[in-house]
Amino acid sequence: MSCCHASVADDTHEGAFTVDAAAITFGPGVLAEAGDHALAHGCKRVAVFTDARVARLEPVNVVLESLRAAGVAAALFDEVRVEPTDASFARAAEFAREGKFDGFVSVGGGSVIDTCKAALLYATYPAELLTYVNKPVGEGRSVPGPLPPHIACPTTCGTGSECTGIAVFDYVPLHAKTGIASRRLRPTHALIDPTATRSLPAMVVAASGFDVLCHAIESFTARPFTARPKPVPGTPRPLSQGQNPWSDVGSREALRLGGKYLARAVNDPSDHEARESLAWAASLAGIAFGNSGVHLPHAMSYSVAGLVRDYRCDGYPADEPMVPHGISVVVNAPSVFRATASASPARHLEVATLLGADARGAGLADAAEVLAGAMLALMHAAHVPLGIGALGYGPLDLDALARGAIVQSRLVDNAPIVVDVAAMRSLFESALSYA
Ligand SMILES: [Fe+2]
Repeated sequence: MSCCHASVADDTHEGAFTVDAAAITFGPGVLAEAGDHALAHGCKRVAVFTDARVARLEPVNVVLESLRAAGVAAALFDEVRVEPTDASFARAAEFAREGKFDGFVSVGGGSVIDTCKAALLYATYPAELLTYVNKPVGEGRSVPGPLPPHIACPTTCGTGSECTGIAVFDYVPLHAKTGIASRRLRPTHALIDPTATRSLPAMVVAASGFDVLCHAIESFTARPFTARPKPVPGTPRPLSQGQNPWSDVGSREALRLGGKYLARAVNDPSDHEARESLAWAASLAGIAFGNSGVHLPHAMSYSVAGLVRDYRCDGYPADEPMVPHGISVVVNAPSVFRATASASPARHLEVATLLGADARGAGLADAAEVLAGAMLALMHAAHVPLGIGALGYGPLDLDALARGAIVQSRLVDNAPIVVDVAAMRSLFESALSYA
């Protein structure tokens, strides 16, 4: 492999990157292997996490039957909240702690997998919720030691949570999303059955599909790992170590697949090729950003989701206002990529091409508009809101949105451009609506 970044490293900057690869089993029917994998990890009594909707679907039945057939006792927790909160994390942790389980299985979307990560952490190393939560909302303390086995079985095609050490939740007292980030939180094994996505509502596919695309684009355009100061010896590299040759591999293929299949997967539930390809793209993007980190669209999504007033989305629980994660990310994307293109125009142009844009004749100076145009074309095709104005936000909300996003320092610092609160406000202003 030719590593184009090594040559720019110097005595004061990072010259190496770490690859943390998740153990993945991918293919139709693999959920039926859950029991065998649990046994192989030494589990005798596991907690199975899911949410109330997924609990009624086939994947949970398949996993429970597989565990039973393998002789592994299972207790079902179906109270996971879609877009979890500090309170729902605490409830899940209580269940995990009281059950004295020796392993955990999650079956569902990113909310389920993230909740399971948090539950097994707080059950194993009990602490106040904010102890392990990222600064500045929490104390940002390290996870003290290894965690029990966690087999993650995603049923959406987007979050990539099964491949990452990140658990995101809504910290209600501040109306802000935040999270816990540690390599130790990465699931022990991901069982990805792409056929599990066949029954998903169109908007769930759209939201999770754009989450995939943004994971890949943000990973591919993040601040290069060589831009970070050289780490102090003995300290681990951060999860968000920046764009690197390993993350580029997954990002490129995820973008190619996403550009080809996203709109098809949203608009035709019978297009199994499209939905299953998107599931593979999600895993590739998850592996990529799990080693590089994402940046501004995700940082901004935290306040877009956290400050929601009355938006509801088809295909999701309607009992209270909620912006699905992927929607809260992609509404910011055209605005952000217009601003970041100057940092790496060739990369932004390559992203547009991978997504299927016709960039013939376009030069580096056109990268911002070509990529923004490619994203907007896909957003039109998948019928998602075109900007934060469509979610109910207006000019009077810009200051609060900017304040909520600028504190996501893990993500803001991973951006290819320097952003202060005024620049963040401008990014939101440009994201109010798109022509
Ligand atoms: Fe995401």
